[in-house]
Amino acid sequence: MTKRIAVIAGDGIGTEVVPEGLRALDAACKRFDIDLEYQHFDFACCDYYLQHGQMMPDDWFDQLKDFDALFYGAVGWPEKVPDHISLWGSILQFRRAFDQYINLRPCKLLPGIKSPLADRTAGEIDFYVVRENTEGEYSSIGGRMYEGTEREIAIQETVMSRAGIDRVLKYAFDLAQSRPRKKLTSATKSNGISITMPYWDERVKAMAEQYADVDVDQYHIDILTANFVMHPDWFDVVVASNLFGDILSDLGPACTGTIAVAPSANINPDGNFPSMFEPVHGSAPDIAGKGIANPIGQIWSGAMMLDHLGHADAGKAILDAIEAVLAEADPKVMTPDIRGQGTTETLGRAITERIAG
Ligand code: NAD
Ligand code: IPM
Ligand code: MN
Repeated sequence: MTKRIAVIAGDGIGTEVVPEGLRALDAACKRFDIDLEYQHFDFACCDYYLQHGQMMPDDWFDQLKDFDALFYGAVGWPEKVPDHISLWGSILQFRRAFDQYINLRPCKLLPGIKSPLADRTAGEIDFYVVRENTEGEYSSIGGRMYEGTEREIAIQETVMSRAGIDRVLKYAFDLAQSRPRKKLTSATKSNGISITMPYWDERVKAMAEQYADVDVDQYHIDILTANFVMHPDWFDVVVASNLFGDILSDLGPACTGTIAVAPSANINPDGNFPSMFEPVHGSAPDIAGKGIANPIGQIWSGAMMLDHLGHADAGKAILDAIEAVLAEADPKVMTPDIRGQGTTETLGRAITERIAG
């Protein structure tokens, strides 16, 4: 059966890595006899905003809601549009409107990539950050008062609902239970954030009672970030609120050598709206237009998309190809962030050739 994919390249290097993501997807689809149909959209990027005064057309929800998945590059170009406008007008809308309440972000030290942490080799860092993706610190409740005066105040409320916490915890516990180590770490800050975070801890404790075989621990976010650097091998599944998960899912991949390889799956497990697949990184204005962006985060996001669409074998073939090409570490093929002199295209094509077999 044909699966319909909405493709949104977005801004900056999004427009450079998405074609490599599609190239790899095409090769995997050919090899595994999968039928994907792409439809490209030119909105949810800053140029659209400059032309139309908004990031998306009024009917964006209806245009996108029936797709099987969204394949997104990156969005944001602060010199053109303030970030809070471009991001709240696009990706954050998708996550909330399509109820993509899980943001699944693998952190894996891949072969051929040097970790900035001394003596860490491939296989030693291999965990997931499960980020709550629709509420928490990313709430639209709040406002500014007394603007322009000495008494100016900005307030933004954190929202933690029982249903919102429980559903992300359930996903994270299920994931931990399915993995050999069966270990779950909760990111908290209940010593300082005295209402929402103790509530989060309470829900973790309640959920843990249903998962006797999962080994549960928790750390305050400050020491947790330190432990990501000092002991990344301790972690298996790390569950976190929206903001903590955002921070951990840049820090984790940084420990694996480059944030550019990190993928993400914004999942709506209920399946009533499309899930969205995009790299963890942003539009990288500093290197955009040079053709040197590493496409692996985008390509691996495509692998997660195939997995989500029921083609785990094709998803695995993409990840295997990524690992094989990285293990060879040909400097002519690798992008500069992983110590090569290659381009987005040389690396993308090498991976695609490997997928094709
Ligand atoms: P960024 O991830 O775009 O870039 C951070 C650093 O990492 C830069 O030095 C960049 O060159 C490098 N980098 C990122 N991706 C790379 C890749 N594929 N290959 C090689 N190097 C790569 O983060 P930023 O600079 O904080 O944000 C830039 C813009 O992107 C902002 O507008 C921000 O809001 C937006 N942003 C969007 C997303 C998203 O679309 N999901 C995520 C993060 C940031
Ligand atoms: C990410 C990004 C977004 C987030 C930004 C761009 C709003 O950093 O996907 O991690 O904070 O979720
Ligand atoms: Mn982020």
